Amino acid sequence: LTLTGCGQAASPAQAGELLRSKAKLPAPFQVPLPIPPVKKPLRSDAKADYYQVVQRAASLEILPGLKTEIIGYDGLLPGPTFDVRSGRTSVIEQVNQLDVSTVVHLHGGHTPAPSDGWPVDLIMPANGGHDMTGGHQMMGGDMTMGKRTYTYPNAQRAATLWYHDHTMDYTAPRVYHGLFGLHIIRDAEEDNLPLPKDDREIPLVIADRAFDADGSFLYPASKDGPGVEPAYMEGVVADVTLVNGAPWPVHEVDAVRYRLRILNAANARRYELAFDKGPARFVQIGSDGGLLDTPIEHTTLVIAPAERFDVIVDFSQYRPGDEVTVVNKLDGNANVMRFRIARKAADDTRIPATLSTYAVTPRPSGVVRREWRFRRGNAGDHRGWTINGKAFDPQVMQAQVKLDQYEIWTFVTDVHHPVHVHLAPFQVLTRGGKSKLSEYDHGWKDTVDIRPAEVVEVLVRFSAHKGKYLIHCHNLEHEDMAMMAGFETI
Ligand code: C2O
Ligand code: CU
Repeated sequence: LTLTGCGQAASPAQAGELLRSKAKLPAPFQVPLPIPPVKKPLRSDAKADYYQVVQRAASLEILPGLKTEIIGYDGLLPGPTFDVRSGRTSVIEQVNQLDVSTVVHLHGGHTPAPSDGWPVDLIMPANGGHDMTGGHQMMGGDMTMGKRTYTYPNAQRAATLWYHDHTMDYTAPRVYHGLFGLHIIRDAEEDNLPLPKDDREIPLVIADRAFDADGSFLYPASKDGPGVEPAYMEGVVADVTLVNGAPWPVHEVDAVRYRLRILNAANARRYELAFDKGPARFVQIGSDGGLLDTPIEHTTLVIAPAERFDVIVDFSQYRPGDEVTVVNKLDGNANVMRFRIARKAADDTRIPATLSTYAVTPRPSGVVRREWRFRRGNAGDHRGWTINGKAFDPQVMQAQVKLDQYEIWTFVTDVHHPVHVHLAPFQVLTRGGKSKLSEYDHGWKDTVDIRPAEVVEVLVRFSAHKGKYLIHCHNLEHEDMAMMAGFETI
């Protein structure tokens, strides 16, 4: 089904086959941009806030006039936003009212191992469910019945984190059907900056989905076990762009500066975000791991799955009545969303030349080096993708890493892979053998996009928590098809 005039002449070039909707799709820019609700704690004490989240099925009107069955945190897509203070612990009881087992991971969190969402630490369905992942109980996981409490110390600087499902072999379909949401950490350093706040600080969670004729999600799951139909093993890219769960939404803004916290929550799609008409730019103030030292101005923003870009956009460069559309240049300028400039308004914000004094570590000498090779391949009973020649096995640790030790990790790829490391952020040192980085590599990162046949070196140091952690590709179909490795911090 094609729609004219909304830029959907999609080039499926960037991952696998394009998954096309059969449902009647709305014209773009009709649906207002939703803002996910902020989660309220049940109670708080001097050090912690206590929450309960119910993972449940819900029927949502995502496409006007149709119902889509989702599985979501509190039945929402995206889930509720956690908005928390650095240094205050979040204690989150996750109740599983789904038919399938789940695992929750806080992406970007410096989380103790028991709460990090090891892929076989399953929350079994409260109703006993009918569960395809039953075999995973045998893989040494710490299984719980019906619910599990995750403890996040939030002992880290202000940053945009997100939480999502991490069930071994089934993360991609779980996230696709709705199990993802934002977790924002704030601190005094950031509070003291004259940045846009309140309704001028907007999260944009971007993800692509396809819809069947009846409105249900289309996902090309493999019929005989984990993974996807062979045509989609490069990753599922779909023809509808959702922002905060709405198709090609529109948002009305004042002609002033806005702060946009952008997350690419897509399973496999990359975006190169651009405005269809100038002069607006994306002034980047933060990366996965929080504020940059100084702002960086980008004409376009290349964002791979799981990356976050915190940007300021100055809409005072437009006149009231103007409309500016965000498009994806990697997809023939396909529509993403639109801003409608409503009115002039006062603006006392600015973008300071120095954002943070959180220094970038100079390259130390005498560090431990490790290489991680991301390649297509079959290993064990997994067809698909490997790291250092191995398919993910929760019983196997590919490295033992000493806490507080600087390490240089080298990532080597065959095709394009967004590489993610749990527990600690890293700094990109070199890309393609050069110390001149891409304009998107700056600051503290936890996910780095590595282009085909490219080598990237990062500096990383783990601290505080001993246990089992993960390195994996964040193309979720690659991840489910075993491109994941365990390592142990000691
Ligand atoms: Cu965003 Cu291991 O995950
Ligand atoms: Cu990959």
